[in-house]
Amino acid sequence: MKPILLSGFAAAALALVASAAQAQTDPLQVRSWAAACANCHGTNGHAQTGNEPLAGGNKDEMLKKLLDFKRGAKPATIMHQLSKGYSDEQLAAIAAWFAAQKK
Ligand code: HEC
Repeated sequence: MKPILLSGFAAAALALVASAAQAQTDPLQVRSWAAACANCHGTNGHAQTGNEPLAGGNKDEMLKKLLDFKRGAKPATIMHQLSKGYSDEQLAAIAAWFAAQKK
């Protein structure tokens, strides 16, 4: 009986550690999420003419657009699918990262 109880405790402790790690977003992790946007929005959000630049944009507006894409509230050709690949927290971190880049 004891070993079972112990392993249950260990699993709970591990789950706690994992959620604590998630709550604090690693800046390098956010940068690699943002790198996935570079093909279309340019390196660090500096897009070529014709694509939406993200660098130095307003964080709240960007996040609202991303969440609207995700919910299907904003018409899109691509972004409605891409935004579904991220949690709301990840989208917030990505929007903050682009907002912090120089225009
Ligand atoms: C395959 C190309 C592609 C990739 C990759 C991509 N986007 Fe987009 N993005 C678009 C297109 C195209 C639009 C215009 C809306 C649409 O048709 O989907 C857009 C629009 C946006 C907008 C709204 C811009 C505005 O002001 O209206 C934001 C914000 C955005 N993308 C953020 C991101 C983020 C963040 C990522 C990475 C997680 C990303 N995009 C990855 C193609 C892309």
